[in-house]
Amino acid sequence: MSNSALITGATKGIGKAVCERLLKEGMSVVMTYSFDDATARQVSREFEDRFPGKTKLLRADISDLQSIEVIASFLSEHHITLSCVVFNAGMTDRSDFLQIEPDNWLRVFNANIHFPVFLMQKLYPVFEEGGCVVFTGSLMGIHPHSVSLAYGVTKASVHALVKNLVKFLAGKKVRVNAVAPGFVDTEWQKTKPVEIRDNINRKLALGRFCTPEELTDVYWLLINNKYMNGEIVVCDGGYSYC
Ligand SMILES: NC(=O)c1ccc[n+]([C@@H]2O[C@H](COP(=O)([O-])OP(=O)(O)OC[C@H]3O[C@@H](n4cnc5c(N)ncnc54)[C@H](OP(=O)(O)O)[C@@H]3O)[C@@H](O)[C@H]2O)c1
Repeated sequence: MSNSALITGATKGIGKAVCERLLKEGMSVVMTYSFDDATARQVSREFEDRFPGKTKLLRADISDLQSIEVIASFLSEHHITLSCVVFNAGMTDRSDFLQIEPDNWLRVFNANIHFPVFLMQKLYPVFEEGGCVVFTGSLMGIHPHSVSLAYGVTKASVHALVKNLVKFLAGKKVRVNAVAPGFVDTEWQKTKPVEIRDNINRKLALGRFCTPEELTDVYWLLINNKYMNGEIVVCDGGYSYC
C-alpha cells in the first residue's frame, strides 16, 4: 500500500489534527483547503519542516463540484494513488428557516454530500484495494438541532451514505466509516458567543468541548483497524446522556 491519504479541510481544526496524526503514523497526506491561503501555506510549511516530503497542499473548494476534476488531475499529475480519504471539510448555512435560499441550501448539499459521492466515484477505479474512507459526520446528524436545517439533514445523510456505500466499495475491500463528533474546540466553535458555549458545556457530561487532538485516536482506529466497516462512531463527551 502507498500509505497515502487525502484529507479535505486539512489546514485547521479537526482536519489539521488528523493530518498531523497520520503524518506521525508514517503516512503521506494531500491536504486540501478552500480560501485561507495564508494559513494553509503556514501549516503546510510547518508540516514540511517536521515531516519532509510527506505533504502536498491543494486548494479545492468542496462546494464547487469542479474541484473533483482539480483533485483527480492533481493526484494523477503527481502519480499519487490513495489508500485513504478523509472527507472532513463540511459546510453549514445558519439562515433562519424562512430565509433559506435554494442556492445556499444546494451549496451545503454539494459540499457535504455530492462532492464526496462524486469524488469517490472518480477515484474508485484507481483507489487501492483494501483502502479506507472516513467521513466527519456530526452529532447534529443524530440529534436534530435548531441552528441549521441544511447542516443537520446533510450530516444525517453523511451517516446514511456511510452505511450505503459499504456494499458499493466492497468490490475492492475498501472500508467506509464516520466519526460523529459532538462539540470540538475549533475555529468553527470559537466564534460562538461565550453564553452559548457555557450553555453547551452545561449539557455535556464532561463539562467541556473536545480538543481536535483527542478526536484523532478515533480517526486512527477507523483507518488502522482492518475490520471496522460501516460504523458511525460518536465522540460527544456524554452529550447524549444529559
Ligand atoms: N467543531 C465542531 O464542533 C464539529 C462538530 C461536529 C462536526 N464537525 C465537522 O468537522 C469538520 C471540520 O470542522 P472544524 O470544526 O475542524 O472546522 P474548522 O476548524 O473551521 O476547519 C475547517 C477546515 O476545512 C476547510 N474548509 C472549509 N470550507 C471548505 C470548503 N468549502 N472546501 C474545502 N475546504 C473547506 C478550511 O479551509 P479554509 O480555512 O481555507 O476555508 C479548514 O481547513 C466539518 O465537517 C464539521 O461539520 C465539527
